Amino acid sequence: MNNYLNVENLIKSRRDTKNFLSKRISKKNISKILEMGIWSPNHRMTEPWTFVPIEKNSSTRKKIAKDIRNYVLKNSKNSSKKTTSQSALKSKEDFEKCPYIVYVFSKKGRNKEETLENYASTSISVQNMSLYAWSKGIGIHWSTGKPCKIEGLCSKLKVEETSTPVGCLYMGYVKAKNKLSAKPRASFEEKTIWL
Ligand SMILES: Cc1cc2nc3c(=O)[nH]c(=O)nc-3n(C[C@H](O)[C@H](O)[C@H](O)COP(=O)(O)O)c2cc1C
Repeated sequence: MNNYLNVENLIKSRRDTKNFLSKRISKKNISKILEMGIWSPNHRMTEPWTFVPIEKNSSTRKKIAKDIRNYVLKNSKNSSKKTTSQSALKSKEDFEKCPYIVYVFSKKGRNKEETLENYASTSISVQNMSLYAWSKGIGIHWSTGKPCKIEGLCSKLKVEETSTPVGCLYMGYVKAKNKLSAKPRASFEEKTIWL
């Protein structure tokens, strides 16, 4: 029996990782993961998510990878030029080499409350995708860092300008899955106010 039919096991075992095999993820498998994203609960059925899958070796992948490198070169707070340049190159290569990249955006709502709720729903859609992907041996690294901060991201990815990037998801078949350990978490009791 698939271990992940046990929901508790799936939730607890999923890890954020970028340690991937070079194995390609098929378009069919990526599509199935995206399909899981749309089953997120969403208030007033705003369905606020936009997914932008970017194939390895595509011109978009190469273009954004360069932008990430430039972003690091421009914004690094490290005083060593050499370290900054190495880190910029690493960020570019990580993005280029990743088996699949999927950007996730959330649409602006008609007011502040709707925008906030849209962001919540879109975040849940990422978790739906992460859990499903994990059950198929595919890991996701969720980044709101450099790849989400490059200038003109929406227009470069043909997404509505008013949308917010919720994450850049690095995806791949996980290497050494059993060696990934969870960072310790405070118990739910510490986070709960029983009344
Ligand atoms: C909204 C969000 C944004 C994140 N952004 C980043 C990021 O920019 N860089 C990073 O290294 N990890 C990022 N992460 C991944 C977290 O670091 C990771 O989820 C956390 O360490 C817990 O590990 P786990 O997901 O394996 O349980 C992000 C996670 C979330 C939910």
